[in-house]
Amino acid sequence: MNLITRDYRPEDFEAVNYIWQQTGMGGAIRGDDQDVILRTIEMGGRLILLENTAKNEIIGTSWVTQDGRRIYLHHFGILPDYQGKGFAKILLDASLKFAKGTGLQIKLEVHEDNEIARNLYVKGGFKYLGDYNVYIIRKYDNL
Ligand SMILES: CC(C)(COP(=O)(O)OP(=O)(O)OC[C@H]1O[C@@H](n2cnc3c(N)ncnc32)[C@H](O)[C@@H]1OP(=O)(O)O)[C@@H](O)C(=O)NCCC(=O)NCCS
Repeated sequence: MNLITRDYRPEDFEAVNYIWQQTGMGGAIRGDDQDVILRTIEMGGRLILLENTAKNEIIGTSWVTQDGRRIYLHHFGILPDYQGKGFAKILLDASLKFAKGTGLQIKLEVHEDNEIARNLYVKGGFKYLGDYNVYIIRKYDNL
């Protein structure tokens, strides 16, 4: 298997969306469509893909966005058939290399039940920040 990391291109959307569905990271409610992806890239973020070039198959995604103050790591996932083989580390290394190059601090949210991801992130150098609650406003209709 020949694995490379590379940047997202608009024609990758379907394959990327498939990974997000398969790994439970997708959903229209989160608003993650083509326009949003391209906007985050314009703003200096990256959607880094892990590709199995032997099959022209995208097998992992790491969406690294930035707001000028911090980098955020999200939509980090590997296609189920390819999980547990050490490939997440390749994708995380590429993401952290990019983050380091920006000089900005990097932050992420992970569910406390997601032991695999928590292990991965801690091994990658992330430190637990504390017992914070996470909030979001999805729609402003009632405001
Ligand atoms: C999280 C995820 C990307 C890890 O991918 P993976 O291919 O299984 O990970 P790897 O094989 O590269 O393993 C990397 C590290 O993850 C941890 N890990 C992997 N499998 C594990 C398991 N069964 N139990 C505990 N930790 C595990 C270990 O720390 C491992 O490093 P190690 O082998 O040195 O111990 C993958 O499980 C996934 O896509 N999950 C669904 C999406 C998701 O939850 N993403 C995180 C959102 S915040």
